[in-house]
Amino acid sequence: MRAPAPTRCLDPVNPLRAARETRPLTALPSNAPTRGHETSAPASPNDRRNANLPDMTHHAKLILDDNELELPVEVGSEGEIGIDISRLRPETGAITLDPSFANTGSCESAITFVDGERGILRYRGYDITDLAEHASFPEVSHLLIYGELPTRAQREAFRHLLTHHTLVHEDMKLFFEGFPSSAHPMVVLSAMVASLSAFYPDEETNEEIDLNIIRLLAKAKTLAAFSYKKSIGQPLIQPRNDRSYLQNFLHMMFEVPCEPYHVNPVVQKALNSLLILHADHEQNCSTTTVRTVGSGGANLFASISAGISALWGPLHGGANQAVIEMLELIRDDGSNYQKYVDLTKSKDSDFKLMGFGHRVYKNFDPRAVVLKKAADDVLEQLGVSDPLLDIAKELEEVALADPYFIERKLYPNVDFYSGVIYRAMGIPTDMFTVMFALGRLPGWIAHWLEQRNTKGTRITRPRQIYTGENARPWVALDDR
Ligand code: CMC
Repeated sequence: MRAPAPTRCLDPVNPLRAARETRPLTALPSNAPTRGHETSAPASPNDRRNANLPDMTHHAKLILDDNELELPVEVGSEGEIGIDISRLRPETGAITLDPSFANTGSCESAITFVDGERGILRYRGYDITDLAEHASFPEVSHLLIYGELPTRAQREAFRHLLTHHTLVHEDMKLFFEGFPSSAHPMVVLSAMVASLSAFYPDEETNEEIDLNIIRLLAKAKTLAAFSYKKSIGQPLIQPRNDRSYLQNFLHMMFEVPCEPYHVNPVVQKALNSLLILHADHEQNCSTTTVRTVGSGGANLFASISAGISALWGPLHGGANQAVIEMLELIRDDGSNYQKYVDLTKSKDSDFKLMGFGHRVYKNFDPRAVVLKKAADDVLEQLGVSDPLLDIAKELEEVALADPYFIERKLYPNVDFYSGVIYRAMGIPTDMFTVMFALGRLPGWIAHWLEQRNTKGTRITRPRQIYTGENARPWVALDDR
């Protein structure tokens, strides 16, 4: 049942240590959001590191009281520097403190490269804009999971497998009956993906791993479409083997037994790009969750189900739904953009512009650049006019010119324009984060697999600085 000869991501050897050629600074794409004063991308920490060439050796020392500790330095294939502190606690008794891990690398990974200062995103070395334009989502899934774009034969075999594992066990359909129709499709998807482990055994061999990967990729879209059908009270539509991956999903979402459904090629193309743009983003909240759960030895389905739950939050994948709700709020309140931009600055409010800001991107999010243009194209090709797109553009313009947003380097992220496209495609708002999850699936799988195949991986277990009470004597109930 395996895809023939895919290159598995088995190589635990760090390819990053070899000295590499440095790459020239990339200029901003012509349609990237600019603030007038910017004509090219600002310097990236990578450039500063590369400027140190040809001396590629770095030294780090830590002085704690009277002790000095020499720390090894790892250099990534794009010049990223990581100070290896794995001997810190054994040798000094101290730990590092980095809440929310903004400065902490949790692993070495050969899957995805992000340079937030230059707005670069590459999967296995391929630029995201090339992939979004030329590749199919199953090809990108193959690239992320197995390390290489598939050859023609591998592509056909992979497609065949993905097509022939789309059915879900009849007993699983009973689970759908148990959810109230008001259930958010994200909880249904997360529960259903976890439930797959009740039907398919834990992976012991490479063959079993590969088969479960195929099952998950093939069945997740069936489960996602079923959760939508359940929420609107329509009969479940079964997948068919004469349809491609995306066609199957669209049919299962929109077909009804009483009339045929024809996939609009514009919708199919837009969906393909959207899924590719979401397919991986290195150590984000949900991927780190998948790795963390997987590090304890949990099976693929359980680990990915945890990732789906992590994605749901409005600061992460749930932002695409929150963006549309925010745009509707602004529209209903008279489209006073400055009022909402000002609200983000108010000390008395925790309001944020949803779809703005990013932990890593401090110049522009290349995914948002592609999606802004795609929103215009898709709406035009579908003949759809959506006032929310105009509101989004006008809000973006006001925010990008505001000193608060300039100082904090806040730009639209991937979630800002994706919802407008999903709306035009007829996908309801509470399914947006499910769409994100379907796109992110191959990325999560790739990271789960890479970690599993990396020799010496240990269970994830951070430390803490305890700030509670010191030891105190037991107090009997009557004395409290
Ligand atoms: N609107 C207004 N102010 C913001 C925003 C925003 N969207 N994002 C960040 N800020 C402010 C924040 O209040 C802080 O200000 P100050 O320095 O005065 O305290 C400063 O900018 C730095 O923000 P941060 O919260 O420290 O940044 P972070 O790296 O911890 O969080 C983020 C990143 C994406 C969670 C955050 O920007 C945010 O909440 N954005 C809105 C939600 C959103 O769009 N999420 C989708 C992210 S992209 C897709 C994904 O990852 O799933």
